[in-house]
Amino acid sequence: MILLGTSDADIARAGRAIREGLLVAIPTETVYGLGANALDPRALARVFEAKDRPRFDPLILHVAEPSQADGIAFFPDGPARSLAGAFWPGPLTLVLPKRGHIPDLATSGLATVAVRCPAHDVARAVIRAAGVPVAAPSANPFGRLSPTRAEHVAGQLGNRVDFIVDGGQCSIGVESTVLDCSESPPLVLRPGGLSLERLRSVAPDIEVFDRTGESPRAPGQFPSHYAPLAPLHLVDRGSLADVVPAEGAVALTFGAACHEAVRAAGRFRELRCLSEAGDPLEAAARLFDVLHGLDAAGATEIWAERLPDAGLGLAVNDRLRKASKR
Ligand code: TXA
Ligand code: MG
Repeated sequence: MILLGTSDADIARAGRAIREGLLVAIPTETVYGLGANALDPRALARVFEAKDRPRFDPLILHVAEPSQADGIAFFPDGPARSLAGAFWPGPLTLVLPKRGHIPDLATSGLATVAVRCPAHDVARAVIRAAGVPVAAPSANPFGRLSPTRAEHVAGQLGNRVDFIVDGGQCSIGVESTVLDCSESPPLVLRPGGLSLERLRSVAPDIEVFDRTGESPRAPGQFPSHYAPLAPLHLVDRGSLADVVPAEGAVALTFGAACHEAVRAAGRFRELRCLSEAGDPLEAAARLFDVLHGLDAAGATEIWAERLPDAGLGLAVNDRLRKASKR
C-alpha cells in the first residue's frame, strides 16, 4: 500500500490508478471509500474481495459533477431530480433505474444503481482525474467499523488496497443517506449524513424503510454491521446511569447531563462523551473515531444510550443499533 497526499501529482496518480483497475481509498465528507473503476468488472471484483463483502450487496457509484449522474442512471418522474439539485454535492445517495452499460457486479444484478456526488474536494478531484465513475463502498472489511481517518483504513485494509489518499478526518463521520427514488414515494433505505428533516423539506412524502418487515428493495439491510470488536449494548435514553456493566466496561455518553449522571453512578471504568453539548452532528462526526479508539485500546464491553431520533440522531442510532447486533 502506498500512502498519498493531496498534491496535484498525488491526485493525478490516484486517478490513474483507479482508471487502470487498482483499489484506491479516498476521503469523502462522510467516510473513507474504497474506490475502484465502476466500469471495470475486474476492479469491482477486487473491491468485493478486499472487503469480504457478499456480491449481493451493491455498490455506490460516485461522480465528480452532479450532471454525470445522467450517464449512469435515469431520473424518473418524481422528486429525484430536485433532490439531486438541492443536495448534491453532498451526503445523499440516490437509487435510480440504471443505464445498460453499468456492470452487473456494481449493482448486484439489480435494475437500479446507487449514485452519489460527494461534497469533498479531494474525492471529486480524484474522480475527475480517473475520468470514470468511481465505485466506493466504505473502506472497511464487511460488517466492521467505517473509517473516518486514513489511519483507520490502513489499520483495517492496509494490505488489501493499492493506495490510500490521506485527506484528513471526515467532517460528517457517518455514511450518506440512501434514498430509493426508483419507486414512488421515495424510501430511505439507510439513514445517514443528510437528515430526514432536510430531505422532507424538498420532498415531503419521503418514507423510511421499516426494518421490521422484509423488503426486496433493501439488499444491504443487514441486521449486524458497523461493529466494534467489543460487544456493544444499546439502551434507552436516560437509562445508562442505571445499568450494571461487566467490570472494565466503557460508557458512550451523549450530553453533559447524561455524562455526569453516569459518572456519578460510578460503574464504568471509563467514559467517552460523543458530544458534551448534546449535538447529534458532533456525535456523528466522532462516533466511528471513538469506536476505532476503543478497538485499539482493547475495550472489552461498550454501553451506549440512544440519541433523540432527530437530525443526525437517526443515523447515529442506526449505526449503534447495528453495532449492538452480533
Ligand atoms: O457515505 C457513503 O455512502 C460511503 C462513501 C464512501 O460514499 N459509501 C458507503 O458505501 O457507505 P457502502 O457500500 O458501505 O454502502 C452502500 C449502501 C449499502 O447498504 C447498499 O446495500 C446500498 O447502499 N445500495 C447500493 N446500491 C443499491 C441499490 N441499487 N438498491 C438499494 N440499495 C443499494
Ligand atoms: Mg459500509
